[in-house]
Amino acid sequence: MKLSPALLIAFLVASAYGKPTARSLVVHETRESIPASFKEVGPAPPDTVINLRLALAQGNFSALEKALMDVSTPDSPLYGQHLSKAEVAALVAPKPETVAAVDSWLTENGIQASKASLAGDWLKFNITVSKANALLGTTFSIFNHTQSGRTSIRTLAYSIPAGLKGHVDLIHPTTTFTQPIHAPKLTFTPRKGVQARALNVTSDAAPASCATTTTPACLQALYGIPTTPAQVTTNTLGVSGFIEQFANQQDLRTFLTNLRKDMDPSTTFELFTLDGGTNPQSPSQAGIEANLDIQYTVGIATNVPVIFASVGPDNADGDDAGFLDIINSAIACDTPPTVLSTSYGGNEDEISTNLVTNLCNAYAQLGARGTSILFSSGDGGVSGTQSQQCTTFVPSFPSGCPFLTSVGATSGIAPEVAASFSSGGFSNVFPTPSYQAAAVSQYLTALGSTNAGRFNRSGRGFPDISAQGENVVIALQGQFGLVAGTSASTPIVASIIALLNDLLAQQGKPPLGFLNPFLYSAKGASAFTDVTSGSNPGCNTNGFPARAGWDPVTGLGTPNFAALRAAIGV
Ligand SMILES: *[C@@H]1O[C@H](CO)[C@@H](O)[C@H](O)[C@H]1NC(C)=O
Ligand SMILES: *[C@@H]1O[C@H](CO)[C@@H](O)[C@H](O)[C@H]1NC(C)=O
Ligand SMILES: *[C@@H]1O[C@H](CO)[C@@H](O)[C@H](O)[C@H]1NC(C)=O
Ligand SMILES: *[C@@H]1O[C@H](CO)[C@@H](O)[C@H](O)[C@H]1NC(C)=O
Ligand SMILES: *[C@@H]1O[C@H](CO)[C@@H](O)[C@H](O)[C@H]1NC(C)=O
Repeated sequence: MKLSPALLIAFLVASAYGKPTARSLVVHETRESIPASFKEVGPAPPDTVINLRLALAQGNFSALEKALMDVSTPDSPLYGQHLSKAEVAALVAPKPETVAAVDSWLTENGIQASKASLAGDWLKFNITVSKANALLGTTFSIFNHTQSGRTSIRTLAYSIPAGLKGHVDLIHPTTTFTQPIHAPKLTFTPRKGVQARALNVTSDAAPASCATTTTPACLQALYGIPTTPAQVTTNTLGVSGFIEQFANQQDLRTFLTNLRKDMDPSTTFELFTLDGGTNPQSPSQAGIEANLDIQYTVGIATNVPVIFASVGPDNADGDDAGFLDIINSAIACDTPPTVLSTSYGGNEDEISTNLVTNLCNAYAQLGARGTSILFSSGDGGVSGTQSQQCTTFVPSFPSGCPFLTSVGATSGIAPEVAASFSSGGFSNVFPTPSYQAAAVSQYLTALGSTNAGRFNRSGRGFPDISAQGENVVIALQGQFGLVAGTSASTPIVASIIALLNDLLAQQGKPPLGFLNPFLYSAKGASAFTDVTSGSNPGCNTNGFPARAGWDPVTGLGTPNFAALRAAIGV
């Protein structure tokens, strides 16, 4: 039998009326176009089951933000009085009417969701593509990331019932198209004859060899990092691991044996896994990024307990990132690490604005708990985390979030200069926070019309600080070699903060927590060595020049341990 056109139309109309989701839908998030690195393959098969996350509007984020600033601003009476897990959860928990509105929508569509965060501001549920298409008034498609061949199910727009505006923050993964994250620039160049130099960190300058080969001894001499072992075992340093980057114990031992002769070579790290993460130890599975991050935390933050958090593939991003899960899991910890070092990131424009904001708010929650969150700024200069074709500058994420500390890279010694790959710039989502307003304004005035129209003058500027990121020696598969990237700078700074936290804890004082209000204060800024030359080219420009004062290449400069110690009074 052949359906006549009239019949076909009648059939479609009937089926549309039959849908249980017949509330009036309004567009909630959209993306103008498919990012250049992705290609649409076709509609997603209707029976495929996807795992969606739904963020509910948080109850009182502005109170959380205020609390974060109060506990992180040195001259505030509440400085250092970090919030408990329950206090944070109470501020961000969705309001009862929000929970009720979302619950009834899901229930009437036969969806059973479970809680995906401590405060209940994230829910998760499995749903077929056909049902999700109807629920969200959209058509999910398969997209191919052509460089990696990895496919994901996404859409360029989705809707929610009009009555849920103000209750639903976002649904994910939908309009976020992240590149498979990887640590760019991290090519490993084997090098023979790497030696530990015995240096007296209180009196010796970094030797000339440090200009071409960065070792722990070089960093100790350059930044005055003590070799004295930390004492407080509850003061932990977390290191994020993604995309099956595994940290190898034997390589760590090789590294310590040769480059930290004063340390017990069996010093190691603890493993924490989520989303099916693992840390297999066969030499061929050692990851450059993971080895770098572990060797420059265990090997610099002497005796600070280091936790390697290996995030597996079963995560909320529906791909291999897991940024959401690692942060929500840290927020749910009774005693989160006092420092969290992450050398991964993406570009701000790949991620939906609502998700960018939601993740950034999650960093604020962990900061309020007293964790210093450090992220690498990226390795593509002004063109984003990796170099790419562009006309306007590409801010990286999460570095553009104002509630974390972004770390750029330097190279050379006496003086240090900006590493040309060091990503920096200004967010298109977050405005300049007040703690850096004066520093950013001074820079923009000096910059004049250079790069005008290529970046957002009202955005949050990053990075905040920097450290060595070129010619950094690591051990990999039993060999020594050199790597470069803000990926190296970040664990170095994280180690310094962790050692400072140990000194504070020895005196019964709280950890430094969210660092930026301190860093940009007169006392904080003067504990950094200003880096005033070099730039970060990209997008066919010379990028931003480093200058006296803060700049979007090296931030406020590189750390001086003794000065930091004096500034915080330990
Ligand atoms: C948010 O919390 C603050 C401080 O606890 C309180 O004064 C304010 O009324 C709350 N606002 C809302 C909308 O709940
Ligand atoms: C969704 O399905 C996955 C398997 O694909 C399963 O591991 C998970 O528990 C399910 N989640 C929910 C909320 O049912
Ligand atoms: C994805 O793109 C790559 C490169 O163009 C191609 O080789 C591959 O067949 C594509 N995969 C799909 C599922 O279209
Ligand atoms: C390191 O140098 C300082 C200052 O010159 C000196 O007081 C100290 O004894 C030296 N330490 C070692 C282990 O040589
Ligand atoms: C510039 O940044 C502000 C936030 O500071 C944002 O509201 C605005 O949309 C951004 N402009 C562009 C063109 O992205």
